[in-house]
Amino acid sequence: MKILVIGAGNMGLTYAEGMSKSKLLKRRNIMVLDTSEEKLEELRKEAKFDTFKELAECVPQADIIFLAVKPYHADGLMMKMEPLVNKGQIVISIMAGVTINTIKELTGLKKVVRAMPNLPAKIGKGLTSFVASEEISRIELLTIESLLDTTGKSILVSDENFIDASTGISGSDPAYVFYFMQSMMEAALKMGFSKNVSKVLVSQTFTGAIELFNRNDLSPNSWMDKVASKGGTTRAALDSMEGNNVGELIKEAAFAAFERAIELGKEKSYV
Ligand SMILES: NC(=O)c1ccc[n+]([C@@H]2O[C@H](COP(=O)([O-])OP(=O)(O)OC[C@H]3O[C@@H](n4cnc5c(N)ncnc54)[C@H](OP(=O)(O)O)[C@@H]3O)[C@@H](O)[C@H]2O)c1
Repeated sequence: MKILVIGAGNMGLTYAEGMSKSKLLKRRNIMVLDTSEEKLEELRKEAKFDTFKELAECVPQADIIFLAVKPYHADGLMMKMEPLVNKGQIVISIMAGVTINTIKELTGLKKVVRAMPNLPAKIGKGLTSFVASEEISRIELLTIESLLDTTGKSILVSDENFIDASTGISGSDPAYVFYFMQSMMEAALKMGFSKNVSKVLVSQTFTGAIELFNRNDLSPNSWMDKVASKGGTTRAALDSMEGNNVGELIKEAAFAAFERAIELGKEKSYV
C-alpha cells in the first residue's frame, strides 16, 4: 500500500510521522508532496519520506491520498489532481469545511473520506472523527481506521453533519481546555503562587482529573458530587460557576464553533 500526503504542514506531517512510526507501513511507502521547496529540502535532509513537488510524479502511484492543505488551496489542488487519478484510489481529506461532494466533483474520485483531527494528534493523543462515502468497502474502512489511529483514536460517524459537529467538540475543544487552564493559572498567580508553581498546580490537577475520569465509569457530575461536600470549598466554587451560568456559556461556545464550521463549508474563500 502506497500513501501520498499532500501538504507537508502541521497536520500532513503529523499523519506521515504517525503512519511511519506504526508497523502498518514502511517509510518508503509514504510519499509527501508540498509546493514549498524549503519544506521539501528539510524533509530530504531528514530522509524520512520520499518527497515530491510535482503531482504527476506521485499521484498515479498512490493507493490512498491524504489531502492536508489549507481549505483555500483545496479547489486548485483537486482540479490539478483530476487528470492524474485512477478510479480505485481513496482520498482522505482533513481539510475543514470541504465536503465529500466537492471532493468527488473536483477530483473525479468516488472513494472519499472526510476526517476531522485535533491538535493532540501531534503527540499521538488525537481524536479523529471521520465519515466515508458509500463507495468505500468495509475492508477499506478498516484500513482507513488503522491509518487514522496512528495519531490517536478515531471515531466513524454516520453523517457528514457530525464532522462539523465534532469540530465544535473534539476539533476545537483542546482550546477550551487551555482557556480553562489559563484562567486557573491566572487565579493561582493572583493568590501569590509563582508562575512555575501555578503551572504545576494546574497541569497536575488536569492530568489527575482526566486519569480518574478515564479509569472509571462515573460521569463528570458524579465526580463533582464526590469532591464537593455541602458547605465546603469545592461546593463554593461550583456554586459560583453555576450562578454565573458557566456551563451554559461553554455549550454556547461549542455551538458557535459548530455553526462556524458549517459556514466555512459554504464560503468559497474559507481560511
Ligand atoms: N492544524 C490543526 O490543528 C487542524 C485541525 C483539524 C484540521 N486541520 C486541517 O488540516 C489542513 C492543514 O492544516 P495545517 O495546519 O497542517 O496547514 P499548514 O501547516 O499550512 O500546511 C499546509 C501545507 O500545504 C502546503 N500547500 C499549499 N498548497 C499546496 C498544494 N497545492 N500542493 C501541495 N502542498 C500545498 C503549504 O505550503 P505553504 O505554506 O507554502 O502554503 C503547507 O506546507 C487544513 O485544511 C485544516 O483545515 C488542521
